[in-house]
Amino acid sequence: MAGLIVTIDGPAASGKSTAARLLAEKLGASFLDTGAMYRAVTLAAMQEGVNLNSEEELLAVLQKSRFKFGIKEGKTTISIDGVNAAEQIRRPDVTANARYIASAAKVREKLVEMQRNFAADHERIVTEGRDQGTVAFPDADVKFFLEADAIERARRRRSELLSGGSRESLGKIQKDIEERDKSDRNRDVGPLKPAADAIVVDTTDLNIDEVVEKLLNLVRKICLKKSQK
Ligand code: DC
Repeated sequence: MAGLIVTIDGPAASGKSTAARLLAEKLGASFLDTGAMYRAVTLAAMQEGVNLNSEEELLAVLQKSRFKFGIKEGKTTISIDGVNAAEQIRRPDVTANARYIASAAKVREKLVEMQRNFAADHERIVTEGRDQGTVAFPDADVKFFLEADAIERARRRRSELLSGGSRESLGKIQKDIEERDKSDRNRDVGPLKPAADAIVVDTTDLNIDEVVEKLLNLVRKICLKKSQK
């Protein structure tokens, strides 16, 4: 198991992905974007045309496809059966369908196992998602839960979408984010919630550099305290 595990959970567009990637860089750690794993299984299932409500069919897709995850020039790379899927997994229809995969208990079990294998292969990791501190790594060294007001998260998502050329209204983006929050918080397996020992950070009024600085200082403080015990 990795010598340092930092988990960052939080709702959609809370800034956890960018924060996790930059924090990993500063700590010399490997970054794991677990949302990309759920998105990849979603895309593969859509391509295979399986019934998204059938846990067995989803599990079969996960078992038969070859998923490869990595990071290149600060971006998550992902291939399915050797085909680059980094852009496709961000499609709005994939985002919308990911909730079926996120609610399939057996698929979650398998993905958590893959996440733990990743941790076993790396000296230090920063991993982000919804259940990293609660289910995947309950004994993580440092756990964060990032929050931000829904309107601020919608603004952030809109500027991301604008840079990709999409012009959805702020109201529609906020509504989608709130629907995803509801589905993430209310599912039976791996629901979105802070671990009892997570540090909750509200990023509404912070820019990304301030968020990373804050997390980095907290990691250093907690690790120093542990090493002095
Ligand atoms: O973080 P994201 O938007 O890329 O996540 C995509 C989907 O995967 C979203 O529906 C939540 C789900 N997810 C999850 O259930 N558990 C995780 N650890 C990560 C993501």
